[in-house]
Amino acid sequence: MKKMLKKSFLLCVVGVLALSFTACVKQTETDKLVVGTSADYPPYEWHIMQNGEDKIVGFDIDIAQEIAKDMGKELEIKDMNFSSLLGALEAGKVDLVLAGMTPDDEKKKNADFSDIYYTAEQGVIIRLEDKDKYKTVDDFQSVKVSVQQGTSQEKIAAEQLKGCQLKTLTKVGDLILDLKAKKCDAIVLELPVAKAYVEENPDLIISEVQVIDEVGGSAAAVKKGNTELLEQVNKTLKRLADEGKIDEFVANAIKLSSGISE
Ligand code: ARG
Repeated sequence: MKKMLKKSFLLCVVGVLALSFTACVKQTETDKLVVGTSADYPPYEWHIMQNGEDKIVGFDIDIAQEIAKDMGKELEIKDMNFSSLLGALEAGKVDLVLAGMTPDDEKKKNADFSDIYYTAEQGVIIRLEDKDKYKTVDDFQSVKVSVQQGTSQEKIAAEQLKGCQLKTLTKVGDLILDLKAKKCDAIVLELPVAKAYVEENPDLIISEVQVIDEVGGSAAAVKKGNTELLEQVNKTLKRLADEGKIDEFVANAIKLSSGISE
């Protein structure tokens, strides 16, 4: 009798353990918010080494963390090429995109966008030695200009740096290398990003050339029709803006990114 009791007790324990294990596995599957980004964009998102470990940081990541928190979910970040992000969203590989993404008309065809959470100006990076060569948008006739593939800077450069020869590369780090190696003569980026890279590269400067972006802001992207998530995202963005948190995240990220290497 005693033996039998013991046996059924053990069976019970095993059963409970098995049940909670499957519950656990299931939970981690559904309780994750998967956010796609392109971590080559300080202070929005970039890689740092912390205690020997590679980590993605930035104010987009802080915002993603808050959205996940408000949803009671765990955040998972997927780093990919900027030009692959909206495809990944469409394919259901990520739930949300936070990548300093400008909701221009082209992108709006492929995704739905949240309210704008941050606005930035544009910057044109050139080599320091060319400082006097490029001063206005009219100085780019037949000049090679590199931009990141799939970004609104493609259009900005093509339309505003008159007569330039446009080149697209997948990663922002490659744009910087391209410029330093004289394979191109200018890069167009969002100004805070341009500043972060120039700070790390004394041979580069931000030119006085003025280009503008009529959208000029970043928004989060969800799969077309996913209004439930979109409303949740807008709610968190509003809370963060009201609490002054976005400014705080941006300021912290700028501080942290002055010290990056490309
Ligand atoms: N704002 C630009 C766009 O949406 C460029 C963003 C690039 N972002 C990045 N994480 N590399 O087209």
